[in-house]
Amino acid sequence: MKPKILVTRAVFPEVIARLAGHFDVESNQQDETFGEAELVRRLQGKDGVFSNPTDRMSASVIQSVPGLKAICNMAVGYNNIDVPAATAAGVMVTNTPDVLNETTADLGWALLMAAARRVTESERSLRAGEWVKWTYDGYMGNDVHGSTLGIIGMGRIGQAVARRSMGFNMKVIYNNRSRLAPELEAKANHAQYVSREELLRTADHIVLVLPYSAESHHTIGEKQLAMMKPTATLVNIARGGIIDDAALIRALKAGQIGAAGIDVFENEPNFNPGFLELKNVALTPHIGSASLNTRLAMANTAAGNLIAALSGQTPPNLLNPEVLEK
Ligand code: DGY
Repeated sequence: MKPKILVTRAVFPEVIARLAGHFDVESNQQDETFGEAELVRRLQGKDGVFSNPTDRMSASVIQSVPGLKAICNMAVGYNNIDVPAATAAGVMVTNTPDVLNETTADLGWALLMAAARRVTESERSLRAGEWVKWTYDGYMGNDVHGSTLGIIGMGRIGQAVARRSMGFNMKVIYNNRSRLAPELEAKANHAQYVSREELLRTADHIVLVLPYSAESHHTIGEKQLAMMKPTATLVNIARGGIIDDAALIRALKAGQIGAAGIDVFENEPNFNPGFLELKNVALTPHIGSASLNTRLAMANTAAGNLIAALSGQTPPNLLNPEVLEK
């Protein structure tokens, strides 16, 4: 008998077909939204779950599914999963690192350019028929080339963001839990490690790429925004909750910082409507990894993890290897 799995959200049909070669698959190609009770109900009797960042795999969900062996998330971020609870229950947890680094870094740059150079704002103005003549000071933004780029969270995506700055002749400063090895700093456009405060005070443009956790909650709030340059651009391609969105909206409204490019929000998709009243913000609906090749690679990575986990192998992207000792 094949192991039984649940695929919680719609995904590429070819990935469902691949999974069906190994498992008895319950899929959700209608992409219904499962509340916690429904998720628990559907997970009964399942050996594994192909999950998505929108599924809250809480301790209570995990504890309610006694036979569960693996949660394979189609995302690099896994703050939707209570990993310690999974480990305690003997459940393997995996994510999809690496395959989305370059695509997510591309989006970081798209938002940085759009916000700093007022691309989305001026397009909205043009579409609204407000562009009646060229003026010397119309839609003036802030230069990206030759400026200082500050990156908070210098993992693989942060380093990919830094590498792209070479063509823009930028200086890169970064802050991270730990300093990178010198050869990695050199590859990341000779990035210099600085304190969080120095970065906030001296960077012209700041990109957030750190993982979300209780520790990184509201990394950027009122106090940090007050340290930033009045012309600074702030980009969030990490996770909602890393910025205090209400504080950011106040800062953008007051012109305390120049602009922001935001892909991830607190309480998404029910984001703070205050963002919509602002001109100086470029907004995208959590599309950091959204290219066909990358999403397909993420789905196949999650599928590969699940296939390995349920066939007695160590999944390539196991986040809680301690579970194997149980
Ligand atoms: C991730 O992989 O964590 C992304 O945010 C999902 O698109």
